[in-house]
Amino acid sequence: MTVPLLKIGAVLSTMAMVTNWMSQTLPSLVGLNGTAVSRAGTSEKITLFQSPDEGWQVYTSAQAPDGKCLCTAVIPVQGSCSRDLRSHQLRQLTEKVQNISQSMEVLDLRTYRDLQYVRNTEALMKGLDSRLRVAAESQKSLNAKSFQELKDKMTELLPLLPVLDQYKADTRLIVHLKEEVRNLSGSLLAIQEEMGAYDYEELQQRVLMLEARLHACMQKLGCGKLTGVSNPITIRASGSRFGSWMTDTMTPSADSRVWYMDGYYKGRRVLEFRTLNDFVTGQNFVQHLLPHPWAGTGHVVFNGSLYYNKYQSNVAVKYHFRSRSVLVQRSLAGAGYNNTFPYSWGGFSDIDFMVDESGLWAVYTTNQNAGNIVVSRVDPQTLEVLRSWDTGYPKRSAGESFIICGTLYVTNSHLAGAKIYFAYYTNTSSYEYTDIPFHNQYSHISMLDYNPRERVLYTWNNGHQVIYNVTLFHVIKTSGEL
Ligand SMILES: *[C@@H]1O[C@H](CO)[C@@H](O)[C@H](O)[C@H]1NC(C)=O
Ligand SMILES: *[C@@H]1O[C@H](CO)[C@@H](O)[C@H](O)[C@H]1NC(C)=O
Ligand SMILES: *[C@@H]1O[C@H](CO)[C@@H](O)[C@H](O)[C@H]1NC(C)=O
Ligand SMILES: *[C@@H]1O[C@H](CO)[C@@H](O)[C@H](O)[C@H]1NC(C)=O
Ligand SMILES: *[C@@H]1O[C@H](CO)[C@@H](O)[C@H](O)[C@H]1NC(C)=O
Ligand SMILES: *[C@@H]1O[C@H](CO)[C@@H](O)[C@H](O)[C@H]1NC(C)=O
Ligand SMILES: *[C@@H]1O[C@H](CO)[C@@H](O)[C@H](O)[C@H]1NC(C)=O
Repeated sequence: MTVPLLKIGAVLSTMAMVTNWMSQTLPSLVGLNGTAVSRAGTSEKITLFQSPDEGWQVYTSAQAPDGKCLCTAVIPVQGSCSRDLRSHQLRQLTEKVQNISQSMEVLDLRTYRDLQYVRNTEALMKGLDSRLRVAAESQKSLNAKSFQELKDKMTELLPLLPVLDQYKADTRLIVHLKEEVRNLSGSLLAIQEEMGAYDYEELQQRVLMLEARLHACMQKLGCGKLTGVSNPITIRASGSRFGSWMTDTMTPSADSRVWYMDGYYKGRRVLEFRTLNDFVTGQNFVQHLLPHPWAGTGHVVFNGSLYYNKYQSNVAVKYHFRSRSVLVQRSLAGAGYNNTFPYSWGGFSDIDFMVDESGLWAVYTTNQNAGNIVVSRVDPQTLEVLRSWDTGYPKRSAGESFIICGTLYVTNSHLAGAKIYFAYYTNTSSYEYTDIPFHNQYSHISMLDYNPRERVLYTWNNGHQVIYNVTLFHVIKTSGEL
């Protein structure tokens, strides 16, 4: 008898156990907190619930390596008992809750760092405020100049207050959603205990409503405008001056495989490291030999496939890692190649693929667009261009570009002193000049991409593999929603 297995991520456990992969696991993997971590996932199981009559069992397994708590429900085979319909309905409901809890997980990951930032800022403001008060009371200890400086700082921080209030509202919203998910899984457990004594209709309604609200909420919380870039963290120093490295932006965060492509032209060798830790130490990798060589460093790994530009052509290639085969290739109509329209550093970087929360994009330019950056939405299955925007920014004057929530950000140089200088909003087809500084530590950036799963920027800087956190600001209206 085959028993369908259903993994319910964190439904029956406390959502609080869901931790942020980037903020907790990554730094320790990289050795930032001084410990070499090898927390392999244990497979110990604790049975939470078992109903021999129905064949229902619910297990909770110990923590997975990324700190998440996994639950496993063993559900009876459909058609194996007299209460088929019930089992079927129940299974659907369970699946819904599973979906919701997966969404919750994503939500948690995405908001964790922002909230952390806000808390820190709030503490900073409070500290400043009290210093100011003390200073005001005993003015002798402070000369007029530094008193004025303090006051000015405080005035600068004041506009942050409404933003902080929004964040607190977000936190309440998330707490409430978590409680609803917990309540629902409680209801499911109750059904399992007393098959038959529950109003499915009502439960289903609740699940549907929760799902709709959660999706709306995620839309608003997940995205925002880039307002800051953290200090860089060097993950590894390896390879030549130019290259590209990345993780998949689609797979669950437990899969931390790293792909590494050294060099910017005629390369065919892609190294796949099993984990980020293996990448750091340079161990445990397999090699893929691409059937066609690549050009530039604008490659991206998305949903198990590598998207890259074929050398001396404007052909986009989709290479599937598992089957080790090219699934599709297609020419990007009119796109310049062969160093016609590279980024400022050259290196055949004419065509740059990237992924944001909404899918695959390509950045390039054409003669028709007079060398100005074109950003196109690309169908990941067929590589067809679905829609294009002319940003008006000359591609040869751009250091690099990356996309977050449908907004293309462009740097003004690949050298020291570079900043994020230009933003193009595809949602409104408009642009603005920005002034977002970041530390270009090794003074030669040949790759810069946003990873929406981890919410970090990946860069290749002069033979160093470096990441940056980003701060995204968003405002949500909570009134009337709960
Ligand atoms: C990103 O932010 C998290 C949480 O604040 C922090 O632990 C981590 O070290 C940061 N990473 C980088 C690259 O700054
Ligand atoms: C380092 O990180 C690991 C894993 O997150 C944690 O268990 C450990 O307490 C940390 N050590 C220090 C010194 O912070
Ligand atoms: C759960 O999500 C999957 C994939 O998004 C979808 O195919 C499935 O229909 C969803 N299940 C329910 C019950 O909504
Ligand atoms: C969850 O259940 C508790 C107890 O039944 C109830 O007080 C609370 O209002 C419920 N929360 C939500 C968000 O439905
Ligand atoms: C367009 O996107 C930007 C950045 O994500 C956001 O700040 C802005 O509100 C959006 N505009 C509209 C009209 O949705
Ligand atoms: C990811 O790949 C799977 C098959 O490998 C496919 O079914 C799914 O639609 C893909 N998802 C996206 C967003 O392309
Ligand atoms: C690419 O450019 C080189 C010179 O830089 C030239 O020799 C070669 O023929 C060009 N190839 C194509 C396909 O245009």
